[in-house]
Amino acid sequence: MKILLVGALGTVGRAVAAELGSRHEIVVAGRKGADLPLDLADPASLRAAFQRLGTVDAIVSAAGQVGWAPLLELTDEQWRFSLAHKLMGQVNLALIGQAHLRDGGSITLTSGVLNHDPVAYGAAASLANGGIEGFVRAASVELPRGLRINAVSPGVLVESMEDLGAFFRGFQPVPGARVALGYARSVEGGESGKVYAVH
Ligand SMILES: NC(=O)c1ccc[n+]([C@@H]2O[C@H](COP(=O)([O-])OP(=O)(O)OC[C@H]3O[C@@H](n4cnc5c(N)ncnc54)[C@H](OP(=O)(O)O)[C@@H]3O)[C@@H](O)[C@H]2O)c1
Repeated sequence: MKILLVGALGTVGRAVAAELGSRHEIVVAGRKGADLPLDLADPASLRAAFQRLGTVDAIVSAAGQVGWAPLLELTDEQWRFSLAHKLMGQVNLALIGQAHLRDGGSITLTSGVLNHDPVAYGAAASLANGGIEGFVRAASVELPRGLRINAVSPGVLVESMEDLGAFFRGFQPVPGARVALGYARSVEGGESGKVYAVH
């Protein structure tokens, strides 16, 4: 398969590229240093990237930034940023990208453990994750041409504990290689409308 992987150079994305890259062609997409430059928060850049890319078999997002702050200190700008990047960025990737998938192709988005297991400072992440999971379930009902869509909900990665460990005390960190299996199930399996939790 030819797989567009947004965020391929990030922590989750590198693990996904290692898993899927052994069997498939990966197109590395992101804002900096990528083969295919695009910005999830900018629909025009998504349209331009897909025009350049042509048709693919699968679209995977391992990206989506959010603001982190105490609930009552999250600014309007941080809420908007989180929705524009992690939620609507990935929604737009799916909506714009679906037209560039071959029949029966798949879309895989990223949510996260904070949808169901919240932590302090993570309200914007929880909001975006819940939105992604609801979107995926709903979109699976209506996508045409046998297209599939799923989400992967990673727990905190072992590889991210140095940066995120203070937010996730008591959580069992998950190796990136295990999280990557959720993406493989979505891309290489046959299901749609699923959320693969790897916690
Ligand atoms: N790491 C964890 O433990 C963990 C746990 C649960 C969920 N998640 C979720 O997994 C996703 C990836 O997390 P991560 O830890 O791998 O992040 P990361 O290490 O910061 O990597 C993010 C990747 O996405 C790209 N990216 C960021 N914003 C983008 C944009 N607007 N348009 C296009 N590409 C963009 C980045 O490259 P550029 O900056 O060059 O664009 C980078 O390659 C996020 O949605 C995160 O919430 C992560």
